[in-house]
Amino acid sequence: ALVAGGGRPLTGKKIILTSGPTHEPIDPVRYIANRSSGKQGHAIAAALAKLGAEVHLVSGPVTIPDPAGVRTIHVETAREMQAAVEKLLPADAAVFVAAVADWRMADSAGEKIKKVAGEGPPALQMVENPDILAGVGHHRNRPALVVGFAAETQNLIANAQAKLNKKGADFIVANDVSHGGGKAGVMGGERNRVRIVSKAGVEEWPEMSKDEVATKLAALIAEKLGAAGG
Ligand code: CTP
Ligand code: CA
Repeated sequence: ALVAGGGRPLTGKKIILTSGPTHEPIDPVRYIANRSSGKQGHAIAAALAKLGAEVHLVSGPVTIPDPAGVRTIHVETAREMQAAVEKLLPADAAVFVAAVADWRMADSAGEKIKKVAGEGPPALQMVENPDILAGVGHHRNRPALVVGFAAETQNLIANAQAKLNKKGADFIVANDVSHGGGKAGVMGGERNRVRIVSKAGVEEWPEMSKDEVATKLAALIAEKLGAAGG
């Protein structure tokens, strides 16, 4: 379809995006983390900016640079990420790529936890973090388009469909992370094979680089926002 704005169809659209892992402190020197590099989320932020969008990227701790043409806010924990995202509402779209830690410590220790002879390892008491995507998906200021990701090691489609419904997303980008982390895996690696799961069904994309996934996803978001009449 023809879109006003030619090569920059997202001009005038405000888009919030989360990327990277979160870190949840255990004590002043230790934290809970995961293998997310931020590569896929940052690439999507850059691709949306290229299409003219005003992109607000809320990034967890990553080692890659802030993408060009994007306003980046740096946070550490899930609760900080949630506060930053909600402060940015209202928006035209929100894309949740971050690998948010599901749990944090019930109480993080103010001092470094010491080994005590004979006591053994500490029992880490954890509580669940807020679901940032679900909060926005059901928000009174819900953006017209809400996109989630799903990282799964099994039952990819069924789990992605369950997340779609529970979190109030328009579609879920489903990711098979069963090959683990590092250069060869999705988390930390360069390539990705995703499926787009929506109420309309499942669309399989071939394996491609994370930059190619980002370009294709940005085009899909532009198409959906255009169709929504914006
Ligand atoms: N997400 C979020 N806040 C959380 C957890 C997840 O915003 N506290 C978002 C992720 O950014 C992603 C989607 O929800 O877009 C799915 O994340 P995922 O970890 O796959 O799903 P969970 O609901 O956490 O379920 P589980 O980890 O048990 O599979
Ligand atoms: Ca999770």
